Amino acid sequence: MKIQFVNHLVCLNHSDKQIRLKLNNLITDNQNECKEGFLYCIECDTKYPIIEGIAMVVKDIFDYIQNRTELYGKWLLHCHSKEMKEYLKDIGKKIVLSNKNNTYEDGGIWYLPYKWLQQENHKEDRLVKSLKGSPNANELYDRVFNSINPKIDGIALDIGCAMGKTTLQLSQKYSFVVGIDLSFSFIKEARKYMQEFRHGNVEFCVADAEFPPFHPMKFDLIMAINLIELVNTTKLLSSCHWLLKPQSDLIITDPYDFNRERILDKKYDARSFRILVEENGFEINESSLKKEAFIPWILKINERIYLFYFVDFIKAKKISKHKVNLNKY
Ligand SMILES: C[S@@+](CC[C@H](N)C(=O)[O-])C[C@H]1O[C@@H](n2cnc3c(N)ncnc32)[C@H](O)[C@@H]1O
Ligand SMILES: [Zn+2]
Repeated sequence: MKIQFVNHLVCLNHSDKQIRLKLNNLITDNQNECKEGFLYCIECDTKYPIIEGIAMVVKDIFDYIQNRTELYGKWLLHCHSKEMKEYLKDIGKKIVLSNKNNTYEDGGIWYLPYKWLQQENHKEDRLVKSLKGSPNANELYDRVFNSINPKIDGIALDIGCAMGKTTLQLSQKYSFVVGIDLSFSFIKEARKYMQEFRHGNVEFCVADAEFPPFHPMKFDLIMAINLIELVNTTKLLSSCHWLLKPQSDLIITDPYDFNRERILDKKYDARSFRILVEENGFEINESSLKKEAFIPWILKINERIYLFYFVDFIKAKKISKHKVNLNKY
């Protein structure tokens, strides 16, 4: 974690005020970043670990680790400092289930499909080559990138950033960009690209879309690309409203594939989701965005299985919460 990133983070345990976290840097890496340490709150004493350079700023770290015991084993084996070993051992004493891993972590079913999106030469892909009028596997990401107005002094957030494809693109248009995701493995890959290509104005951390560890009205832009089936949608929108500066943009894309994952609140389609967005304090101004979009998006499960989606695209501006005219859509 870049040392200065601590200045962006607040403790998750205080709803009435924002308490900035402090850094206890135990081990520094060769890029002068914190490789191992703790973020902590002077008000409530909560500690958030930083392991392999990745800050994990989640509300219930025990629950987070309990659902990733394979990773936990690796952290315990490979961490360097005595303090971290003791901290992890203490947590380990309470873990009751073993060999659990999240589907978005390394080894889980969704890990390789996202790696493919991030890394492979899509033009050489068997499916892409064999379809007439080849779908462009990057079309969605190009569309998102082109829709963003540059704000050289602005700060942006990419929620559910996976391996940071959109986050790193966004860093060309904003002065500082943060990517958050619940998958430690994805954030690890994202940080590898960030370090390899020396992106000085980007940082990633493990954090939950429903409990983002940032000040209100901090961001000039928020993106949530293909995330809404995985979270409580109303909570996601309310987090985005809380975090955005007034009149700032929210970009959401989604295939509305509510059957793929467990359903947390409600299924939405293009119309009901637009209404929900507006009910939660956003306005969709551009007339072309009032109608649903159908942008190709491909997930490669393996050499023989692909998921082909048409993804909807919404760009909305933060305004104050108001009653929505349902006849609009
Ligand atoms: C369908 S993927 C989309 C990834 C990326 N935005 C893209 O389109 O290439 C959804 C991502 O959201 C992450 N995720 C799921 N629930 C989350 C939550 N509550 N908070 C943050 N990220 C979450 C997953 O780990 C996964 O990386
Ligand atoms: Zn606190």
